[in-house]
Amino acid sequence: MDSTLELDGSLRLLELGDGLIYAAALHLAAELKVADLLAEEPRSAVELAGPAGVHAPSLHRLLRTLAGCGVFNEDSAGRFSLTETGRRLRSDHPLSVRTTLAQQGRLTARTFQYAQHALRTGEGTFTKAFGQPVWEYLKEHPEEGADFDTAMHEHSRVERAAIVKAYDFAGSGRIVDVGGGDGTLLATVLEACPGESGVLFDLPHVVERNRIADTGIEDRCEVVGGDIFGEIPAGGDLYTMKSVLHGWTDGEVVSILGGIRRAMKADARLLLIERVIPGGDAPHPSKAFDLAMLVMAGGQERTQEEYVGLLAEAGFQVERVIGTESSLSIVEAQPRGAAV
Ligand SMILES: C[S@@+](CC[C@H](N)C(=O)[O-])C[C@H]1O[C@@H](n2cnc3c(N)ncnc32)[C@H](O)[C@@H]1O
Repeated sequence: MDSTLELDGSLRLLELGDGLIYAAALHLAAELKVADLLAEEPRSAVELAGPAGVHAPSLHRLLRTLAGCGVFNEDSAGRFSLTETGRRLRSDHPLSVRTTLAQQGRLTARTFQYAQHALRTGEGTFTKAFGQPVWEYLKEHPEEGADFDTAMHEHSRVERAAIVKAYDFAGSGRIVDVGGGDGTLLATVLEACPGESGVLFDLPHVVERNRIADTGIEDRCEVVGGDIFGEIPAGGDLYTMKSVLHGWTDGEVVSILGGIRRAMKADARLLLIERVIPGGDAPHPSKAFDLAMLVMAGGQERTQEEYVGLLAEAGFQVERVIGTESSLSIVEAQPRGAAV
């Protein structure tokens, strides 16, 4: 074999391994809110170190690493400024992902230290890392819980345009968003469809923190706290569930879907909005998310065939699978036997 090829392969693997360092650098910058400190003007690590509460030469090394990845620019006087990408680390950017990255550093990185357990057993390892299951932990640590909701809001904010573009919600009637978090997706759909109404359904302490107020759709949106394994709000025309089922095992998914099936009208529809894993080796965000769901929650991303099978078990038939401009797909289903 050509020795250059051999070297390329080794370098590629080493580079992949270094991804850990770049991810940690990003987590640190997000946690320290460095981008907020750079909002007004370029500043050196010495100027930033005091407000950030860290050691200036070490901060310089962190910022230089991220400048090499296109997050910051460093000028000849050693002052750092934000690139267009780096601006999205600002807390106040409309498409900010700062909270997501900071929380990844606190929760995901620590949970992945136990990934071997997940591989040996197929079980999630959040409880090993934090002493209790994820949803209990987030309830008992309200600040972390609020940050989780914000992280979901950040994801939904970058994904929602693609969802509303891919699926015509007009004429959907009463839309129930199950596990809808703070209501970001539902508010987007209702803003786009002034004739429809909605129900935001999630855990009671989560819906308490909803962002529906002040969106202009408050009078068309009911907010209901409850348990997806208990009673689901009945009588909706369209049920949506985004990034919820990937957190649960197949048995739990069938139980959740069964509850929705019982709550919905015979001619209502269900949309699962998830990352559907494509076949083949092509890179797709669903594959890394799948591994994260295993390690974090014992959950999984699924293929189209897997969704079709689980939906069939719960009494649904799949009508369409619609791709979006994001990595999410929309699986549209109806109760089996419903008139289409
Ligand atoms: C990954 S988040 C997705 C949130 C939202 N759909 C989105 O895409 O931004 C999963 C949601 O499921 C909710 N959840 C978890 N366990 C639940 C339960 N037992 N009953 C109701 N909601 C639950 C969480 O509170 C969280 O809002």
